[in-house]
Amino acid sequence: MAEIVIVPSPAAAGVLVADEIVTLVTTRPDAVLGLATGSTPLPVYEALRPRLQGVDVSQVRGFALDEYVGIDPNHPESYRSVITKEVVEPLGLDPARIHTPNGALATISHAGEDYEREIAAAGGVDLQILGIGTSGHIGFNEPGSSFSSRTRVKTLIQQTREDNARFFDSIDDVPMHCITQGLGTILSARHLFLLAFGEGKARAVAGAVEGPVTSSLPGSAIQLHPHVTVVVDEAAASQLKNADYYRYAFANKPDWQGL
Ligand code: GLP
Repeated sequence: MAEIVIVPSPAAAGVLVADEIVTLVTTRPDAVLGLATGSTPLPVYEALRPRLQGVDVSQVRGFALDEYVGIDPNHPESYRSVITKEVVEPLGLDPARIHTPNGALATISHAGEDYEREIAAAGGVDLQILGIGTSGHIGFNEPGSSFSSRTRVKTLIQQTREDNARFFDSIDDVPMHCITQGLGTILSARHLFLLAFGEGKARAVAGAVEGPVTSSLPGSAIQLHPHVTVVVDEAAASQLKNADYYRYAFANKPDWQGL
């Protein structure tokens, strides 16, 4: 089962995950991070900034989860741009070591396989940060995604386009297609951190953690992974039936165990 950690605020979640990343990078300078976009991981990146001061990050490698298809990589809302602005530049990472799936139309037919090869060549992802969409998607794996899927093109559901319209001038500007790591790709990472904040995520979180394992709620794939830490605030935890047990287990966690 995943370990569920209920924290008082997104900032507290950011500190918890950032501390793990700092420990990882300190012990393994060429660690491979799985980077997520969206608003959810921002507190992690913010908490990392002061904590990585003085830590050698020149060898750190990273792979983003997804990208829009056909978007200009220089568009401010391309995930390449977002990762550069939110992660690479503030943390001083080497841009050449940070990868996003290639959404260019000219090469899209093999972009998924290319990305899988790059991840494999890096030795796989050590620590994957995940948000979750209101549809229960992780990465851009919309309901119905195969648990063994690898990086490929998907069609966004209307709800996701509506959710993401806030980043664009209008919903018509939100691309229809994306290229995303598959659920199988995500499950291959060694340690998953799934974060969620706010009431709007409560249903997706409850489904992912306690619901049946079903491709109708792609986040439930985390139940198949041996090492998952779910970090949620009270609002996002509000539909978890076993929340008291998760609090009890975390409060009584043996010191030697780590996350
Ligand atoms: C997008 C991303 C997902 C992210 C989700 C939730 O669809 N592709 O990786 O988890 O949005 O976004 P937010 O964290 O802003 O709620």
